[in-house]
Amino acid sequence: MTTTSRTKTRTTPLLSFCFITICVTLSQTVADSPSKAPQVGYGYTITTVNTDPTTKSLTANLKLIKSSSVYGPDIPLLTLTASFETKDRLRVRITDSKNQRWEIPQEVIPRDSSSSQSQSFVFQNPQNSKHILTHPNSDLIFTLHNKTQFGFTITRKSSKDILFNTLPDDPLNPETFLVFKEQYLQLSSSLPSKRASLFGFGEHTKSSFKLQPNQTLTLWNEDIGSSNVDVNLYGSHPFYLDVRKGSSDGRVKSGSTHGVLLLNSNGMDVVYTGDRVTYKVIGGVFDLYFFAGSSPESVVDQYTEFIGRPAPMPYWSFGFHQCRWGYKNVDDVQGVVTNYAKAGIPLEVMWTDIDYMDAYKDFTLDPVNFPQDKMKTFVDTLHKNGQKYVLILDPGISINNTHATYVRGLQADVYIKRDGVNYLGEVWPGQVYYPDFLNPRSQEFWAEEIKLFRDILPFDGLWLDMNELSNFKTSNDTPHSNLDNPPYKINSSGVQQPINTKTVAATSLHYGNITEYDSHNLYGLLESKATNKALVDITGKRPFILSRSTFVSSGKYTAHWTGDNAATWNDLAYSIPSILNFGIFGVPMVGADICGFGGNTTEELCRRWIQLGAFYPFSRDHSVINSTRQELYLWDSVAASARKVLGLRYRLLPYFYTLMYESNTKGTPIARPLFFSFPEDVTTYEINSQFLLGKGVLVSPVLQSGAVTVDAYFPKGNWFDLFNLSNSVNAKSGKHVTLDAPADHINVHIGEGNILPLQGEALTTEAARNTSFELLVVFSSNGNSYGEVYLDDGEAVDIKGSKAQWTLVRFYGTLHNDSVSVTSNVTNGKFALDKKWIIEKVTFLGIPKHERLDRIDSVDTESELNVVNRMNSMRKEVLKTKFDNSSQFA
Ligand code: NOJ
Repeated sequence: MTTTSRTKTRTTPLLSFCFITICVTLSQTVADSPSKAPQVGYGYTITTVNTDPTTKSLTANLKLIKSSSVYGPDIPLLTLTASFETKDRLRVRITDSKNQRWEIPQEVIPRDSSSSQSQSFVFQNPQNSKHILTHPNSDLIFTLHNKTQFGFTITRKSSKDILFNTLPDDPLNPETFLVFKEQYLQLSSSLPSKRASLFGFGEHTKSSFKLQPNQTLTLWNEDIGSSNVDVNLYGSHPFYLDVRKGSSDGRVKSGSTHGVLLLNSNGMDVVYTGDRVTYKVIGGVFDLYFFAGSSPESVVDQYTEFIGRPAPMPYWSFGFHQCRWGYKNVDDVQGVVTNYAKAGIPLEVMWTDIDYMDAYKDFTLDPVNFPQDKMKTFVDTLHKNGQKYVLILDPGISINNTHATYVRGLQADVYIKRDGVNYLGEVWPGQVYYPDFLNPRSQEFWAEEIKLFRDILPFDGLWLDMNELSNFKTSNDTPHSNLDNPPYKINSSGVQQPINTKTVAATSLHYGNITEYDSHNLYGLLESKATNKALVDITGKRPFILSRSTFVSSGKYTAHWTGDNAATWNDLAYSIPSILNFGIFGVPMVGADICGFGGNTTEELCRRWIQLGAFYPFSRDHSVINSTRQELYLWDSVAASARKVLGLRYRLLPYFYTLMYESNTKGTPIARPLFFSFPEDVTTYEINSQFLLGKGVLVSPVLQSGAVTVDAYFPKGNWFDLFNLSNSVNAKSGKHVTLDAPADHINVHIGEGNILPLQGEALTTEAARNTSFELLVVFSSNGNSYGEVYLDDGEAVDIKGSKAQWTLVRFYGTLHNDSVSVTSNVTNGKFALDKKWIIEKVTFLGIPKHERLDRIDSVDTESELNVVNRMNSMRKEVLKTKFDNSSQFA
């Protein structure tokens, strides 16, 4: 039987802003007290409802019933608009009917503007005061209710499950009311606490990936070490996934998932009680987007379709990275590179922190310790050896008349202002001004500085730090208005810390009179975006950028690391929820500082950390100045583990890279929670200590000191140990298994139904790419398996344009009537073909014992890749051996 398929499928503008900044005068009534809430009876009622046949939207006018002076005066008239933007995306926007308020400009986050071509229509039922907006192809229904107070619900049509419900269920509970004031907006939805599992709302370090009841999740970008749990960190993502358990009447199936985004850049608290999620926001409008799903994967697809797909990443960025704050000079850094080579541990990218700069001034080199000629030689040598170099940039520009960058910035007038003068901050170099990335001139200035510096030192990527914005001093002067001291205190740092603490004052002004109050959370996004554009223009290649601060859509421009963790076992464990969160936020290229940033690591912790970190999408060892050195070659046991786990990572590079392609295409994270592949298995919702790479590679690390076993959960199926294919776990239904995990070992399993493309181990990604391919074909119980590999030059900006040089090969494995076959299907097929794309070995796993496989009917992966010229001679000996190995499995 030969089933062979050979289908070929060939497949600066200037920013302009129009808005009104919230202006609140000093004389405005300040909150009576933050603890007081609006009183009973408070709320809005509907006055009129209109439908617009052109935009196919529903508009309701709302009027205040009873006011409250808590947190300032109410806005008396509101307008709600509900519309289906696509069949899977429903938008609900509530704002002041009379005055335009701050909203994130389209230029800052270019949202998918596709509006539904299909008809959405309104059904009105005056008897019970309901207005319903539906869409023929959508599973979502919007219902407007007008009881004593106004409210709306979003329901899933197919199951009648209520997904979001703002109707105040308790007239005595003011937490549930809609509140809309100049500087305080509140909206609350009830949740079925027994069935709803929420994931998202970041950035926070948490011990549990699933949100735990009774927490306040604050969003206000802050430079605070990520070893601080449950407090607002560097980025803001007001987005969550709600994964539902099945209902007792069987209408709702377990795993049914939707997503909710509140597109708002202002500071906020999100209070999650288990049976309720309440937004408390200090500005902007309610601009809510509901993503229908109904699988976790499809929600992230719909979300990233809207906010922008994750950036393609260069092939080399999937290699191993070494960094440290405190390298003394070029020789020190060169010594690290040499020692990695001597130890036979892969090193792809060498980084330098602020140490390379002259007095911490951006775009300069320390003339004594990192002089230009030596640095240039160092970088050239890296390049000759197939390695790369990344350096750090901070946004604060040192105020120093001998600093050419500073002077050019002053001349171009690019800095953030307050009271008509440049806003004075303080960071590593001392006093600084900050470029205002909302200003088109600043974007040009930044690009030019990058270009000038790259002419001196040909770096390969940029690391954007301190961009929350971080300021070592707090502006303690009298508040210029209620923007500096808003009536509602968000729970910043967990202590209602004033919003001006260690950042730029909220009354500072950006281009177009946008206040820092409104745009604070956007700074890192805007810097990443400007840097991405600059690098594309300068190099013509796919950029690699690592940004500490992020916002909705940052993944379109940058990778992210989880910031200043500590060298502790807790932080090793917490890195998993943090990384999974960023996958959901559309920033799939993410990692934590391996071996820990702050404090002194230990041999055991560093060994366990590289075992886990080798499977982070972004894999970098980094540490703070004056801590114990932690390069992987420094301890024999760490070096041995590093060789072993990075060896597997490098073999998996085609898989990682293909996952990057998938994330760029559909937003699907590289590192995924188990429920992405097993949404119907509710046990997976609780897992914090394991994750999947792609669909089927399960990583189960040791996270405790002294442990030599690991308790792992295996969803239903057959799983094979990637370090020793003859070890397998057979889970008839999901089961917990205690696995051996001796000091040098991490458990990594491949699940049934997957085909993994592998290449050989090497010390650089370039060398690994020159090795032959191997396919690991793992049959599912029904005898099928699937996998794919994406190939291109690893650095083209256009990753999948019709003219671009790329190739996607899909592999299908079948086990049927005592025979196996693997077929391939090539899409595009334009990537330059070359002898090196050879599949030398195909390994079959998951063949039941009773199958007497003495025939290999077809291993036909012939394609434009010319992959199998050597297959005929190889297959008997190689494949036959592997059949014997795998047939032990029953
Ligand atoms: C803070 C960053 O989070 C850290 O990674 C870096 O080493 C220091 N700044 C010094 O630049």
